[in-house]
Formats: sequence, structure tokens, C-alpha cells
Amino acid sequence: NIQNNFQFILFGGTGDLAHNKIIPAFYNLAAKDSLPDKFTIVATGRRYDNKNAYLDALYNSLINKKEKIDDKVWRFLTEHIDYFQLSFKDENDFKNLRKYLKNKSKKEKVANRIFYLATAPKFFAEIAKKIEKFNLLEIKLENNESRLVIEKPFGHDFKSAKKLNDTLSSIFSEKNIFRIDHYLGKEMIQNIMVIRLSNPIFRALWNKDHIDNIQIYLNESEGVKDRGKYYDDAGVIKDMFQNHILQVLSLIAMEEPENLSAEEISNKKVEVFKELADNDLSNIDNHIVRGQYISNIVDGEKIKSYREEKEIDSQSETATFMALKLFLNNERWRDVPIYLKSGKRLNKKEAGIAIEFKDSFHPAYLDQNKLDNNLLLIKIQPEEGISLRFNTRKPASNNKIVPVEMEFCQSCQQFFNSPENYEVLIYDMISGDKTLFTSWKEVSYSWKFIDKIQEKYAEENINLHKYPALSKGPKAADQLLENDGRKWLDNNK
Ligand code: BG6
Repeated sequence: NIQNNFQFILFGGTGDLAHNKIIPAFYNLAAKDSLPDKFTIVATGRRYDNKNAYLDALYNSLINKKEKIDDKVWRFLTEHIDYFQLSFKDENDFKNLRKYLKNKSKKEKVANRIFYLATAPKFFAEIAKKIEKFNLLEIKLENNESRLVIEKPFGHDFKSAKKLNDTLSSIFSEKNIFRIDHYLGKEMIQNIMVIRLSNPIFRALWNKDHIDNIQIYLNESEGVKDRGKYYDDAGVIKDMFQNHILQVLSLIAMEEPENLSAEEISNKKVEVFKELADNDLSNIDNHIVRGQYISNIVDGEKIKSYREEKEIDSQSETATFMALKLFLNNERWRDVPIYLKSGKRLNKKEAGIAIEFKDSFHPAYLDQNKLDNNLLLIKIQPEEGISLRFNTRKPASNNKIVPVEMEFCQSCQQFFNSPENYEVLIYDMISGDKTLFTSWKEVSYSWKFIDKIQEKYAEENINLHKYPALSKGPKAADQLLENDGRKWLDNNK
């Protein structure tokens, strides 16, 4: 449970993330009565010089997101927000922040303190060092230690991630470093372990003897919007694969944890990341398809190419799409292909996981027209739910078999009303639950694997397939599966 008297110090309080995710998440938590009576959010930023101007800006962002704002909830929240003007570069500002926090803790109890770095990544290490240098960690707390919450991206390769981690871990212990991957806050991703471990029908079959292939797709229809500068360096591989896709894969593929502690789950995930690095990528074209979107006319409207987007190099070779075929060489998964895919400007926003089973039918049915395999679809977004395809007798036919689908639409059920990702994560960081945050080991091994792929395609100069904006992506990505006699099971057609 959330403790009373927490203090939430938000660096980047005037930035996009604070406006669009963090403060709205606090608003939702307040509306659900999930926050204690006593706590303070100390939002720091450069832009405004007083609290009212800051609150007005927050309010404006909130009305853009919500149909209706409950005045009572908003008032409750504003009573718990302080604004402190601060520039990361200015040592005096940090001295003043220290004075201000000290004074505050003389007047009121502070149980634990959460430092949240919602800033551009280049400031992460600098702010952490200043937190230490200006003794913000020494200011009195009633119980727990201070926590550090850090946004993505955590480094841009293994080396830089390690450097950042060395700095952070010289100041905070691993137990108190909360690395965000907002996909872990998604309802259906939290559901993966429950689906796997609490249903004998899946638990018993979760291996190479029964599963033919695994697919994970995180398809987006948006372009890079106004994040061109960041994206042109990162590309889809760092933006979506190193973190979100590999995290989802690790939950699907890991061995069963002995218990549900954050540490045990993390150790099991790490085993998957380590094994990924064993993939033989010597024949790279059998493993990777890279793509970049080009302009297109859709409903009479011109959609820009990636190279025409704001702040993108007009000769950019950055991939906005990638499909990967991988294997895990272990007892559970040997020879089961794992297909991963993500891209910007695809024709449909859709994220999900497809687990296709083997066609181990009774021989008596093998002479029917090719039967569809059983299929478990875990739908992450926009619709949340599960669908299960199985074969049944076609009514009034002569033992003809037809595939049918059983649907559970979680997001259609009003009473579920899934919380937003950040709501879940903020609740957990305040309560001190690290299960939905990534450990250093996970981050480091996932980078090692991503570095290996990057080195490979730098060496081999592999193709960058062009695909029209708002299409289903490069044809080569379909070919990757067709070569194996399979097809993608998402709805990007
Ligand atoms: C972010 C990426 O981590 O995830 C974005 O930086 C991407 O490029 C976003 O659009 C996708 O998140 P969601 O929750 O909208 O699927």
C-alpha cells in the first residue's frame, strides 16, 4: 500500500512526460482515492516562476486529455503539488532546493522520498550526481531510503548504459533504482504470467512439443511526431526492441519462477536475454528485415516520408521498422521460431502476442483440408483481451471441421476499466514494489544482444527496405515467415 507522507520530487516537472503522463496518472489515482492524505509532489522546472502559472499549464494539459475534470479531485491534487523553479545546470538552485526540502521536513514528516528523473536522458547522470553532491539524500526521512526513478532510454548501447549505471549505483543501491519500461504497466502484459501459470491448459503446453511459433508485434500507425532528433539516433531497434519487445518476450519465454518476488522474476528474465545472445546471426538476412517508411497518399492526403519529418536527416538510414526471427536454444524452446516485429507508420496500431500451436491432430483428421492450428492471441492494445482459436465440427456437415474463435474482450467490459500504464507504475514506485521495473541485469543483457545485432548490420550493410507510410510494412517481412511456411498473425494486412 501507498504510505502516507511520501515526497515525490519530479525533475522535468514542466516537460511533456509530466504533463501527459505523470500528473494525469496522479489525477487518476486521486480520483480513485488511491492516494493518502499526506504527501507532496515537488515539481521542478525552469519554465514558470510561480506555482499558479505551473498549475494553469497542468490544468490545460489535463483538459486536453480528459472529457471532464472533477474539481474536487483537481483541488485535492493541487493542494499536494509544490512548484520549485530549478535549472539542472545551476548549483545554487540545488542548494536552494536542499534548504527548501530541509525546511519542509522540519515542518512535516517525510516517510520516504522519490526522485523521479523525467528529463532528457543526457541529464540523468548529472542530476543524480547533484542529488548526491548537495546532500539531498541526507535530509531527514522517517523510514525508508530514498528511491530514484529513471525514464528511458537507459543508455544507447551497453557501454553507455553501464557508465550511467555505474554513476547511479554509486549513489543509490540497486534496490532503490526504479528503471521504467512503461509496457510493464500495461494490463495484458501484467496478465502474461497469470495466463501462463494459472491455467493448466496453457501451462502444460507451454513448450516446443506443442508450440509451433511465437510472434510478438508492436505495430504503430503514428510517425515520429516531434521526436525526430531522438528517434533518428535510436531507430526502432533502440526505441522498441531493446526495451518493450524484449521485455514482453522474456515474460513469454522465461522459465517458471519459483515465486513472484521481483528478484526471482528478474533472474528468470535475464536467462532469456543471455540466451538470445547465442543466436547465430551469420546469415543475417534470414533473421532481420529492416525498413523505413516513404511517403504515401492516403485518402487524398499526403503522408510524409520518414526523411521528410522534422529534424530527420534527409539521407537518414535509420530503420523505422524491424522484423526479427530468433531462437532460444534451451530445453523448452529449442527450434521454435520467435518472430518479433515493430514499426512506425504501419496501417494499424496494434500490439499483441500470438502463440500458434502445432498441428498434432489425430491422423484420422489429417485428410481434411489444411486445418488451422490452435492459436492463443493475447491482445495488448488498443483492444485488451484474449482470443483462442480451436477446431470444431461444422454443424450438419459430414464431420467437416471448422476453426472457431472464443473471444474475451477485457477492454469492452466497463467494470474492468484498465488503469493507465503510468498510474500502475507510480503506485508501485511509491509503494516500493519493483516487480514492474527493470533490473540492471535485464537492461545490461538486453543491450548486449542489441549491440550484437547492430554490429552485425553495420558490418554487412543489410538492406533498408522502403515501405509506404500507413501500409503493412516491407514485403520482405512477410517473406521472412513465408520462407518457413508461416504468416504473421496480426491484423496488419
Ligand atoms: C515509447 C517509444 O517508449 O513507446 C515511442 O519511445 C512509442 O516511440 C511508444 O511510440 C509506444 O508506447 P504505447 O504505449 O503508445 O504503445
